[in-house]
Amino acid sequence: MQTPETLKAKKDRGEKIVMLTAYDAPSARLAEAAGVDLLLVGDSLGMVVLGFSSTVSVTLEMMVHHTQAVRRGAPETFTVADLPFLWAHEAPEAALRAAGRLIQEGGAHAVKLEGGAEVAPLVRRLVAAGIPVMGHLGLLPQTVLVTGGYRVQGKSAAEAERIVADARALVEAGAFSLVVEAVPESVGRSVARAVPVPVIGIGAGRFVDGQVLVYHDLLGYGVGRAPRFVKRYAELDAVIVGAIRAYADDVRSGRFPEAAHAYLPVEAVPGEAAGPGSDAGA
Ligand code: KIV
Repeated sequence: MQTPETLKAKKDRGEKIVMLTAYDAPSARLAEAAGVDLLLVGDSLGMVVLGFSSTVSVTLEMMVHHTQAVRRGAPETFTVADLPFLWAHEAPEAALRAAGRLIQEGGAHAVKLEGGAEVAPLVRRLVAAGIPVMGHLGLLPQTVLVTGGYRVQGKSAAEAERIVADARALVEAGAFSLVVEAVPESVGRSVARAVPVPVIGIGAGRFVDGQVLVYHDLLGYGVGRAPRFVKRYAELDAVIVGAIRAYADDVRSGRFPEAAHAYLPVEAVPGEAAGPGSDAGA
């Protein structure tokens, strides 16, 4: 299993890091079987699994519940769980307890939280308490109600400088890794060069230390159109709809179930008359 140290060693060796989101036992099991380096129980859970329109509806209870499922499915994979909406802005004691639940009850190995220098004191606090922290910069989906949409960040020089300064502040506070989302490639590269810890990009271009994608985006599974930065490696929607249609056709036409799907005939019970549908009557 990877650790913050082995992930840093990968960066030092110039080896790319592979992260994928997972939300339940089967997605985690398949990602582990495919050999990803680390899993993220992202609060994108709210959008791709639970049907909410943003991540702000995701609660700590939901994150604990789904993190437990992911850990059961992928017991050998380093797993990071998102600290959901608002918790990074609660009083430090409350935020510490929330992060602690993701570790103790959820079984996560680390937590991820959104925000820049303003959350650095919390990062310091969590790390001092023994909780590894991954930062999240660039596009911050938990702020969508204020920003009004999911837009590329860091397009001006001033914004780009702020993102790099935030990255330094988080790492200075003890973050073992950063996610950088939806920034120009040049900004992704500047962040990866500015800090000694692994920088995992999502829509941050080629020159970061690793990549993360959302499971459903990668697989074309139930999510409709994907952002520009997604590469689709499968089109599961078509496969799944086709399979369900075939099942429905088979049931309606009597092709399913066949004899092979039925349990073996029961020996005739002495004294019992053969009823409708019994083998004795067939
Ligand atoms: O919630 C999530 O899936 C994330 C990724 C987009 C990095 O934070």
